Amino acid sequence: MTPTPAIIESIITTEAPDGTVHIAPMGVIWREGHPVLAPFRPSTTLDNLTAQPFAVINHTDDVRVFAGCLTGRRDWPTRPADIVKGHVLADALSHQELEVEQREDDALRPRFHCRVVHEATHAPFRGFNRAQAAVIEAAILVSRLDMLEAAKIDREMTYLAIAVGKTAGPREQEAWEWLTARIKEHRGG
Ligand SMILES: Cc1cc2nc3c(=O)[nH]c(=O)nc-3n(C[C@H](O)[C@H](O)[C@H](O)COP(=O)(O)O)c2cc1C
Repeated sequence: MTPTPAIIESIITTEAPDGTVHIAPMGVIWREGHPVLAPFRPSTTLDNLTAQPFAVINHTDDVRVFAGCLTGRRDWPTRPADIVKGHVLADALSHQELEVEQREDDALRPRFHCRVVHEATHAPFRGFNRAQAAVIEAAILVSRLDMLEAAKIDREMTYLAIAVGKTAGPREQEAWEWLTARIKEHRGG
């Protein structure tokens, strides 16, 4: 079996009982070829996985989806999944459709052990881009604004801005601007 890095930052789509699509960035833990989803309490992803045992892992190089979900821009186009009751990000380079096999309960972060029931590739991986990696790191900082000290956020954003300045295209630049605006807004201006 091909070794997989332990955690792959992905876009997870789930469906609420009323059919509403929910899109959220999540780090998928890969264990011996099986994905494990670990949504914190409380979260919509947790509620949806509890209500119906399906999800889709989407892989995209449009980092605006990561930054957008953290800054109130969740309305990304999707289409119905091929096999499971779920939804695929319209621009995904590839996706994996999951069925939950086992739920491991936890007071903070329940884990959903899943099985890949279908996967498909739609476009080639075009290579690494440092600004994309920087946007993902900044999105993680933004998801922890209430937990991290301002000085740490400033230090890390200053470093990440170098890669954005040197290597971003328009999508990465736009995602970066959404995140920096969110940090400013969090500080009251
Ligand atoms: C790269 C990245 C990885 C994340 N991984 C997780 C995760 O594994 N579990 C989680 O609960 N939230 C994770 N988050 C934060 C969620 O995306 C965010 O809090 C989201 O709103 C989840 O809550 P929701 O399902 O209610 O939307 C991650 C955020 C980023 C940017």
